[in-house]
Amino acid sequence: MLLRWYIILGVLAAFTIAADHTLFKTCEKVGVCQRLRNTTANELFKIENLKPTTAGNVTNTWQLSRGTDKFTLTIELLNNAKVRFQLKEEGSKRYELKDVLDENQPQPIKVKVEPSQDEKKTTITPDPSTKEQHSIVIYKEPLKVAFLYNEKELVVLDSTNLVMEYKNGKFDEKDVEIKDIGFNVIFSDALKLYGLHHHAYNLELPDTSDMEPFRLRNSDTANFEANSPMALYGSVPVIYGHSNSSTTGIFLHNAAEQWVDIRYTKDGSPSAHFMVDSGSFDLFVMLGPNIENVVQQFTDLTGKAQMPQLWTLGYHQCRWSYFTREEVLGVVKNMNEGGFPLDAIWLDIDYTDGKKYFTWSDKFTGTDGKGVETMLETLKGKNKKLVTIIDPHIKVDEKYPVYKEGKDGNYFVKEKDGKKDFVGECWPGNSSYVDFLNPAARTYYANHYSDREFHQGYPEVLAGIWNDMNEPSVFDPHHEWTMPFDNKHKSTNDGEAEIEHRDIHNIYGFLHTMSTHEGLMKRDNNATRPFILTRSHFAGSQRYAAMWTGDNTPDWDHLKNSYSECMLSNLVGLVFCGADIPGFFKTVPKPTDQFVYRAYQAGIWLPFFRGHASNDTESREPYSYGGKPRDLIRNAIKMRYRHIPTWYQLFYEHTQTGAPVIRPLFYEFPGEIEHNDHIMIGRGILARPVFDEDVKEVTVHLPGKDEKWYRIDGNSVQAYNGDQEVTINVEKGESPAFYRGGSIIVTRDRDVMSTEDGKRLPVTVYVNLNKDLKATGKLYNDDGVSFEYKNNKKLYVKLSFTEEHMLQVEPIGEQKHDGLEVVIEKIVVNDWNRTHVSTHHQADVGGNFLSHINIIHALRNNENKMIYKLRR
Ligand code: GLC
Repeated sequence: MLLRWYIILGVLAAFTIAADHTLFKTCEKVGVCQRLRNTTANELFKIENLKPTTAGNVTNTWQLSRGTDKFTLTIELLNNAKVRFQLKEEGSKRYELKDVLDENQPQPIKVKVEPSQDEKKTTITPDPSTKEQHSIVIYKEPLKVAFLYNEKELVVLDSTNLVMEYKNGKFDEKDVEIKDIGFNVIFSDALKLYGLHHHAYNLELPDTSDMEPFRLRNSDTANFEANSPMALYGSVPVIYGHSNSSTTGIFLHNAAEQWVDIRYTKDGSPSAHFMVDSGSFDLFVMLGPNIENVVQQFTDLTGKAQMPQLWTLGYHQCRWSYFTREEVLGVVKNMNEGGFPLDAIWLDIDYTDGKKYFTWSDKFTGTDGKGVETMLETLKGKNKKLVTIIDPHIKVDEKYPVYKEGKDGNYFVKEKDGKKDFVGECWPGNSSYVDFLNPAARTYYANHYSDREFHQGYPEVLAGIWNDMNEPSVFDPHHEWTMPFDNKHKSTNDGEAEIEHRDIHNIYGFLHTMSTHEGLMKRDNNATRPFILTRSHFAGSQRYAAMWTGDNTPDWDHLKNSYSECMLSNLVGLVFCGADIPGFFKTVPKPTDQFVYRAYQAGIWLPFFRGHASNDTESREPYSYGGKPRDLIRNAIKMRYRHIPTWYQLFYEHTQTGAPVIRPLFYEFPGEIEHNDHIMIGRGILARPVFDEDVKEVTVHLPGKDEKWYRIDGNSVQAYNGDQEVTINVEKGESPAFYRGGSIIVTRDRDVMSTEDGKRLPVTVYVNLNKDLKATGKLYNDDGVSFEYKNNKKLYVKLSFTEEHMLQVEPIGEQKHDGLEVVIEKIVVNDWNRTHVSTHHQADVGGNFLSHINIIHALRNNENKMIYKLRR
């Protein structure tokens, strides 16, 4: 019945496009938001005694009270300008998250605690030996906590909206257990606030006085609207406050539903008011003092993505669904004949036997049962990978071994009573949901990835897994399309199911990918980097999976939002982000061909690059288009493939420092807080695709007074000065992109049909001179598959170009680069000072003229540093 509901809604939605607001609650319909949005507490918190109750070198606690209620406040200064702030009721029964923080946790540092003479405040300063510059001031009554960097107050948590309630109460005339947390944070030095990923919104957070607060409650929001604070699939409870002079951040380590109001005042100092449904009050404050530091501080806490396998950076083709193996091979053939590079083809739910995951439908196995194997063998021969969907719901069917094992092992989420398996409806009909909070359940599920029947002996071709519907999605409008919040989880297999779903709702998808990751690691004997795409995600999901923005609509607003969504996800660690191209829904009217090629042109600059569409849409594969759109799509995909060496190097950079792969302008130029439709790929590429119908020209904002920019999307390279708006004609389908002066960008300017085909082909080095006629860049290579890069099996070099017209190559750090040859076949110098760029097919290394330069040989022969003299 409910399944039918969903399908009807889906079909309706295809025509109407907008999300149905009656299916998702507004603030006033949700207890915590209604209670906390417009009320100020009448009794404020205060510190009983400014001297810590338990004082240590590193961790200090204070006794707090509000009326007769007692609380404990714990504060730790962490290294690298971070602070942990935890507030608990006396004898707290609140659930404390376990799985989110990275295993390498920053340690608290040594501090000095000094109450002031007048007994009004106390300061916590780092011990001088730590060389840290962040400190805290706690004001006694009403409680206020100020977070400082270099003695300047940057973040303040005041008492205004500070609420902690754990009691029985009523909402909507029903008895409810209230576990509210509310608090207000002021970003004293900020102009703009960014964060609260995931919403389809502009990059910066707006003032919410006249709109709904931003909601974080992982949801399968079918037909989500552009420019809306509605909850979407993922949650990262992080806000960054940014201005030209500083950047700071806060991270609420809590996986319950939350709503956040934003206020901007005339004198700056924007603030955020958090209204949290349950869980604990565990707040990290990151004191920057610049954006690069804050991103690093946050990824110190929640981890970095591992290196992706090389093939995952190519183009992926998906559709709901390719129904037979013939269809799959047909898509590969059509892509090939159309000259469209492709790395992976994806199978949506219909490849399974009746939506029973880890099984194959007979449309794939064939009458002889060998169909899947034959298909995988063919794909292997063409250097293509296969990615299959595996959702977290398990069809209730005693004859389905995965279900039987799950039920007998007690691995499913329970109903409110903690005893009976919860059954909800999803794609297979009645389903139970794996209780991923329970490590034993994660392992039970993980083990199925090693099932030979499933991967058919070709794990290297069935090389990726797509985890979808993991908010989790349940076709039940009464619970906003997820499971009841009073369902129960267990934290061990022996224990009772007593942890309420509401306490961990936002990490259900995170835990799902953790289990899949465990499964793929086991399947591949810990030797291959797992590739997982997830829809639902949380802070830290980057450790396990790539993510995409979900079921978008192919229209201009959604396309524009996809840039903000992925730039923001990149600032909060989730670097491997993409959006469905050209867009998932919308059959009537179908997207115009113009829209489709614009969507491809924009999509190539997002880290994850996949074409996908819903089951009721016309065919949207690149070869379905003719004439100019077809050529423009092909050119766009090729542009992506040319830049694979640069993408790869940027991902490596992220694994080391947490740096975003793509970035808004303000990451590179702190004053540039407008232009959300401009994107930077690393520090050296700026793209400004077209986001509007039928435009003849676009205005590109080229930042930086002293910068030079080289336009690369035309037939010849053109140089521009920074700090100006340039108007670019796009009537022929151009999609403006630039290299930044001072950067060296490595590309592979060869026609290839997959990343594997290109892997060993030579590269071109683009030297883009800055105003001082200098440039630097990096080049990275490894085996593209294994974790050996962690044992330094990699080639990693710094390239620098000096005034003497020399290109210098030096290794960065220790490395064992044997077998990881990279050959330079061409060096192009983009020089604003000359009318023509110079292309070098020859360079002089130590007196020998070389047309192709094998970096490793050259390094070896020239004692680890080589210098090319380029002929002018
Ligand atoms: C969800 C996914 C979509 C997928 C569909 C069928 O709507 O977001 O990408 O195609 O389910 O599995």
